[in-house]
Amino acid sequence: MAPIIQIRGLSKVYVQDVIGTEHGRLKIRLKDRRRVALENLDLDVEEGQIFGLLGPNGAGKTTTIKILMGLHFQTAGTATMMGRPLGDNAVKGQIGFLPENPFFYDYLTGEEFLNFYGQLYGMTGAARRKRIPELLDLVGLSKAANIPLRGYSKGMLQRAGLAQALLNDPRLVILDEPQSGLDPFGRKEVRDIILRLKEQGKTVMFSSHILADAEMICDRVAILHLGRLIAEGHLSELLSTRIDEYEVQMRNPAADLLAFVHKAAHKVVDSKGDHFASFKAERDALEVTRRLASGEGTLMAYVPRRESLEDYFIREIEGKRAQERAQVGKENAT
Ligand SMILES: Nc1ncnc2c1ncn2[C@@H]1O[C@H](COP(=O)(O)OP(=O)(O)OP(=O)(O)O)[C@@H](O)[C@H]1O
Ligand SMILES: [Mg+2]
Repeated sequence: MAPIIQIRGLSKVYVQDVIGTEHGRLKIRLKDRRRVALENLDLDVEEGQIFGLLGPNGAGKTTTIKILMGLHFQTAGTATMMGRPLGDNAVKGQIGFLPENPFFYDYLTGEEFLNFYGQLYGMTGAARRKRIPELLDLVGLSKAANIPLRGYSKGMLQRAGLAQALLNDPRLVILDEPQSGLDPFGRKEVRDIILRLKEQGKTVMFSSHILADAEMICDRVAILHLGRLIAEGHLSELLSTRIDEYEVQMRNPAADLLAFVHKAAHKVVDSKGDHFASFKAERDALEVTRRLASGEGTLMAYVPRRESLEDYFIREIEGKRAQERAQVGKENAT
């Protein structure tokens, strides 16, 4: 099956004029400031997947999404959605979109807000009366349906925005930072909604720099850095499945055992009477659990830890930054 989103060689250079004044009034153009926001991006998103577009601030996530949505034009390259070139009206009708900083008419109630967008989508009154309560229920805003948006918390507004993006029962949902500014509960609610969309057979592409959220739900991720794709794939391909650390949490260890722990572990943290020790060698961690079991203290937890997406992200991006610094150093030396 052809990918639902296919991006080939997509690049975007923003050009900004820097305007100055002379004698307090005359405007002159000082120079063009060019910023490469996206460089030669290739990406495929398969139907039915949850796809995470990840990267630090300024990586090019919003630029990619805005080009797909027809809000910006690319400088070079091509993209198709549902096999059609960008801008195809039949495709637009099957996409739901939540922008990075959505605007809300805050004097409207949640229900009026959805009704307004439903009218923009050309939905009939009967269709809106059926669909809006279903959506309010999906995003957990049924009880707040008659409250003006100005009384909504940030999490409630984000959920109202999500409901708006789903009004037309889209086949493809594109969400720009749907979890930004939300507390852990709000983030979980958004994750659950995305998972429910996947269960309904929809494709969801969302951008994020909250890696734990992406790790929990994404089938595939792409990591952008300074406009370049630095990694792409299934999480299982990207993250080493190798266990790289063994954590032991213990209470009241005997003095001898604690001395061994401090010698063998590469990190020991004491908190509220418990000791948390991280070992590189499984043998040392197991030795500690064995001694705890034979009465030298109480074993509270034993956790083998594999690399997380956050570890991977920091390792890859730190690597790129080090390469860039070395390159700049070389250029300055010549
Ligand atoms: N309209 C614009 N004019 C000029 N430069 C822009 C414009 N929009 C974005 N940029 C620049 O392009 C680069 C990529 O920005 P973009 O908003 O796509 O990043 P992002 O990955 O979405 O970041 P964030 O996590 O902060 O939302 C940045 O350097 C940004 O300053
Ligand atoms: Mg952005």
